Amino acid sequence: MDRTALRELLEFYDAAGVDCALGENPIDRFEVQSVMQPIVLAAQTEKRFAPQSEALLPPVPRTPTPAAQATSTSRSADANTLADAEAVAANANSLDELRAALETYEGCGLKKTAQRMVFSDGNPNAKVMLIGEAPGRDEDAQGKPFVGRSGQLLDRMLAAIGLDRSLVYIGNVIYWRPPGNRTPTPAERAVCEPFIRRQIELVRPRVMMTLGGSALATILNRQGIMKTRGQELTYAHGELAIPTVPTLHPAALLRNPANKKLAWHDLLVLQSMIEKTRALQTDA
Ligand code: URA
Repeated sequence: MDRTALRELLEFYDAAGVDCALGENPIDRFEVQSVMQPIVLAAQTEKRFAPQSEALLPPVPRTPTPAAQATSTSRSADANTLADAEAVAANANSLDELRAALETYEGCGLKKTAQRMVFSDGNPNAKVMLIGEAPGRDEDAQGKPFVGRSGQLLDRMLAAIGLDRSLVYIGNVIYWRPPGNRTPTPAERAVCEPFIRRQIELVRPRVMMTLGGSALATILNRQGIMKTRGQELTYAHGELAIPTVPTLHPAALLRNPANKKLAWHDLLVLQSMIEKTRALQTDA
């Protein structure tokens, strides 16, 4: 293939969101997980079925590429990895300590393919916290959440109810960009979960809004964004009980602008929660 054709092909991949080489053969990581779960259970109870079920596993490359190695931890977020994440997160006594702990934390394979960790934006003293999914390409390049197209839409959504980034604190349930902007796997969410929970504890917002299905699942342990969005739910963790409203992810609104009216309703719910909890009043 000549250089021009090669460059055009790479540009096509880039425009399609394929900007990271993962390996020679495609692996459906959601399929891996749904296959793994019954296999583990079956192997525990019916040992004689284990060899058969192993045949269901997708082929694992013999010499893993760096990216394949990068995802191996997250594919099997085992009890030790999760306990370690819990301990590291619990040890942080301030947002700066938590950020520093994440900078050196090696338990999430996404770190190996990301350019930088994305921790937060906005005002750490704000009483309104927004939680998204994971950094995309622009966030990975700049190290800040919601700076790309969905971030610009988020800013307009906030402005519609009189908010801006000086009045809110913004985080994500995943701290590193998933390659090609794929949806984070449940195992990747699980390993980052202790950190975002600790981040919430340290910020202590009075009101929260989750953006999209991954944040809904991680923070509120609920599935089904379309039926859950706009409801005033409670984030309950330890001593915290924080009114939280889920809404659609801005990226989903960019793909399907007709749903902006639903997001507008959810923003009005957030606004009324802010008024009820006096979250914008500094003396309350
Ligand atoms: N989408 C997210 O969920 N978070 C970001 O930081 C950027 C895009």
